[in-house]
Amino acid sequence: MHISLKQQVALVTGASSGLGAGAARALAAAGAAVVINYNSHAEPAEQLANEIRSAGGQAIAIGADVSKEDQVEHLFAEAIKAFGFLDILVANSGLQKDSPIADMSLADWNTVIEVNLTGQFLCARAALRQFAKQGDRPGVSRAVGKIIHMSSVHQLIPWAGHANYAASKGGVDLLMRSIAQEVGQQRIRVNSIAPGAIRTAINEEATHGAALEKLLKLIPYGRVGDAEDVANAVVWLASDASDYVHGTTLFIDGGMSLYPEFRDNG
Ligand code: BGC
Repeated sequence: MHISLKQQVALVTGASSGLGAGAARALAAAGAAVVINYNSHAEPAEQLANEIRSAGGQAIAIGADVSKEDQVEHLFAEAIKAFGFLDILVANSGLQKDSPIADMSLADWNTVIEVNLTGQFLCARAALRQFAKQGDRPGVSRAVGKIIHMSSVHQLIPWAGHANYAASKGGVDLLMRSIAQEVGQQRIRVNSIAPGAIRTAINEEATHGAALEKLLKLIPYGRVGDAEDVANAVVWLASDASDYVHGTTLFIDGGMSLYPEFRDNG
């Protein structure tokens, strides 16, 4: 199977680091022009854009807070100005503000819901409007457009001490499936990726030392994931190779969602 995303334009939110950066790099390697969205970290986003351009690809970095309607509108307008089209949205921006539920501030609840859930709504809506405007792109992609929501195993697995995060990802699941049900007939494909423990900055602490040993007990496949594990799936879901995949969540978690604690219990 050879995957090419040549002539396609991908916008990846939260792409200055972690899973977003990995996805942007892989999409560019597959031939897509890539819009690298960042919120506060312009420098690594610009660096990544430079790296892609030096390798012969097309990339541009654009700042925007995905939880703000006007900034999302500006992000998409700038992306279209730069590359003319949009074929792929990877709605990846996300953050954690952890605390026991009784101590959780309303501000931390709101921030997580606004970025992880409202941000995905705003970006998906902007992408859908652009797909409708530009219509079919024959010879470029079988689908009129593709949206990939970055969810988490915690759309399924409850997570004590992270109720805001788990609620946001549970929301992403039904957001994704409701959009997929609504726009499938327009030949727009909508799916999610639900990563488990991946070695990125968001879980730096959990993937080293004693914490790593504890974490590995939750992963039947016996290793922490890498950003490339997720990036490869992003490229596949964005390509015609997955053209019949719609409204699905692909868990990339080494089996974390198999509830491995039940192997010798229950
Ligand atoms: C979180 C990580 C966590 C993983 C598995 C992800 O969604 O961002 O911090 O390690 O889920 O629990």
